Amino acid sequence: MNAPRVYVTADIGREAILRLSEAGFEVEVHPRIEPPSYEELTGRVESGIAGLVTTIRDRIDDALLAKASAAGLRIVAQVAVGYDNIDVPSATRHGIPVANTPDVLSDATAEFAFFMMGDVARKLYPSEDLVRSGRWGVWHPHHPWLGDNVAGKTVAVIGAGRIGKAFIHKCAGFDMDILCYSRTKDEKFRADVQRVMDLRAELGFGKRRTIAHATLDEALAAADYVALHVPLIKAGPDATVHFMNEARLRRMKRTAYLINTTRGPVVDEDALARVLLDGAIAGAALDVFAKEPLPMDSPLRDERLFLKLRLFNHLGSGTYETRLSPDPNVGMAGRAVQSIIDRLRGADPAAMAWVVNRSELGGRVKA
Ligand code: NAP
Ligand code: GLV
Repeated sequence: MNAPRVYVTADIGREAILRLSEAGFEVEVHPRIEPPSYEELTGRVESGIAGLVTTIRDRIDDALLAKASAAGLRIVAQVAVGYDNIDVPSATRHGIPVANTPDVLSDATAEFAFFMMGDVARKLYPSEDLVRSGRWGVWHPHHPWLGDNVAGKTVAVIGAGRIGKAFIHKCAGFDMDILCYSRTKDEKFRADVQRVMDLRAELGFGKRRTIAHATLDEALAAADYVALHVPLIKAGPDATVHFMNEARLRRMKRTAYLINTTRGPVVDEDALARVLLDGAIAGAALDVFAKEPLPMDSPLRDERLFLKLRLFNHLGSGTYETRLSPDPNVGMAGRAVQSIIDRLRGADPAAMAWVVNRSELGGRVKA
């Protein structure tokens, strides 16, 4: 019998790939840095692969999934926690399990969001740029610019899921007051964080800080920093496209900063450029964009925003261990290949922890 074939749309590291070949699969890794074109991807699924490892760059839509299902695809494993590039309801209809890589990236992404907050508030990049470009003339108490404190301030966490909670852990250790907005309120988590805050105060680490649930309006109006951690949902009653629209941006304090590590379309970028330019908020730091890489004609590239806007290349989960570790309990690559191995060795998708449509697949899955 021929070995099951697995197609991997990006190099996810030698060790993770090795795990697939050592498991007995015939593995093909897309050889270029750029993603495969939609046509190339279609050709691969039509050739009868059993497993497909994807990244956020690949469009996995209904037409592709229909062809994949007809040609015998048994699982899609995405190397990311977000899977808005995959039509999951279609995969379910076609009986294809879709796996993602939650949890292993929560700390890396949360700490990146935390560092972004410090970067924009304390003007780290403009400071380095001043030195590197030879424009640093003299030390002076307030010229050419000052930043804002982070410790002691209030942060609003919009979407207290896995990454939102990991971010809260870091903010609690940085003497911040925290407002949580989530549709589901995790009261035990809130109470546990408050206990940590109380203990820190009792031990003399600083003044007593608080964590509270808040409505979205309350959180936006009161926070010095607003950190977004909701997923991108493209349509329906839960849609989060332009969740941060102009009205919500303008509800923030003039001294407040927006931090986005979720997905670009969650923020209305044109509106953000406008509110930054007219000083309706103090600044923003963005790791994700509606179109990636960020187009050269984006309003976010306006030079007048240099001091108040930090831009990153979707790097939130970007550490060696988090992106590339072959260990499924450590790395995204390891977690994705583990789902492929388990499924192609016959595991029931309903019992696979990282299959996002495990409850919906029912009897549709092919053996
Ligand atoms: P998660 O555990 O599912 O958390 C999402 C949170 O958003 C939950 O608190 C959820 O709670 C809330 N939420 C969901 N839909 C909402 C809606 N319509 N309105 C308001 N709140 C909503 O996901 P996660 O693991 O923390 O990941 C979050 C996102 O981060 C991913 O989807 C991905 O896009 C992004 N991400 C980016 C990077 C990067 O490199 N920049 C890395 C990893 C992840 P309720 O449903 O109770 O409201
Ligand atoms: C990265 O953006 C992810 O969703 O894991």
